Amino acid sequence: MYTDSHRLSEGVSDLKRSVMRDLLCLAVDPEIISMAGGLPANDVLPVDTIRECLDAVLTRDGPKTLQYSPQWRPLQEWIAAHMNERGVRCSPEEVFITNGAQQGLAIVSRLFLDRGEPVVLESLTFTGVQQVTSGRGAKVVSFTIDPVDGHDIDGFEAAITSSPSPRLAVVIPNFHNPLGISLSIDDRQRVAALCAEHAIPLIEDDPYSLLRFEGELDPPIRSFDEAGRVFYLGSFSKLLAPALRLGWIVAPVDLAPTVTVLRESFDLESSTLTQRMVMEFIDRGLLPAHLERSRDAYRERGTAMLRALDSHLGDIARWSRPEGGIFTWVELPESVDTTEIFTEAVEQKVAYIPGAVFSTTGGHHNTMRLSYANLTPELIDEGVERLAGVVRPHVT
Ligand SMILES: Cc1ncc(COP(=O)(O)O)c(C=O)c1O
Repeated sequence: MYTDSHRLSEGVSDLKRSVMRDLLCLAVDPEIISMAGGLPANDVLPVDTIRECLDAVLTRDGPKTLQYSPQWRPLQEWIAAHMNERGVRCSPEEVFITNGAQQGLAIVSRLFLDRGEPVVLESLTFTGVQQVTSGRGAKVVSFTIDPVDGHDIDGFEAAITSSPSPRLAVVIPNFHNPLGISLSIDDRQRVAALCAEHAIPLIEDDPYSLLRFEGELDPPIRSFDEAGRVFYLGSFSKLLAPALRLGWIVAPVDLAPTVTVLRESFDLESSTLTQRMVMEFIDRGLLPAHLERSRDAYRERGTAMLRALDSHLGDIARWSRPEGGIFTWVELPESVDTTEIFTEAVEQKVAYIPGAVFSTTGGHHNTMRLSYANLTPELIDEGVERLAGVVRPHVT
């Protein structure tokens, strides 16, 4: 074994093997109704229009599309205009194009966080947030989030004012992964004010906000941030397609040289071809209709999921009621351990993600994340019915 003769760097020794990946390997059977993956719907991915846009930029811009190049200015300008429309005052110089929000998480956490230093995280969060924080040896100070009661902002205040002072905080404000919940406008204002008052940098990780299928789009936390503490992360993964690996950071302009150098140390720049292709998609006016199609699909499937939970698990579970995005979170009676019954679920041809995977504090053994994005309403009902059949014998 290589690791018998070589000590790996400290940076990788804290990275945990992905339990989720191991579990998903068990669920490859096409007969399985999988509510596990966090993927956008296959049937809304715009294959044909992306092909046309790629062809158009290759024909028009030739070898330039295949070269190294700085960030594509028209895309920075579009992102800045889009952010301003959402109430975030920023210039194109404050927009840093990344290879997805995950890279934004890696860059901003590297900016502030050294090994052993405290970071404030939600009690349940996206595994990618864990990888760039606790996965790099940071010490987690958590605050509670709940599928029905939402984010505990008093808890957030207690966490960011704890001693030693946290170096960074991370919040997912919209259609949270894994909970599906969103922060109220008052709480967004309060989070921005608290970060300003206590001088805590905050990552606002927001890949899902434009997938709101019910109610009004909320202003980002960053729109209430007068003090320049909030680093907003956006992504084209759920707006267009994850394979583009394209996202952005809105960061204070005085950090531009540092963010740029840090970014270069990872991979120089995002793909010129992809940036130009995405700009072509936007220039052709295709984004609004594409988003509308996505929202329609998720509204139908999200509604089917809530209906199915009501009819098959209504008497024994509680769950979040997402108004957008692709996830709901289910809490079962204490006697049910969703990691233990996972193999049984796969035998019954249904899959989910056990909630404990997302926990920053341990516990949550009786919870699960369900995604409705890639299933028809009929399959969602069938999947939840199978799930109920697996769960019920374990309820005591
Ligand atoms: C909350 C959250 N942040 C970040 C990411 C990573 O997004 P990207 O594909 O833009 O890297 C995801 C992906 O699932 C996510 O759910």
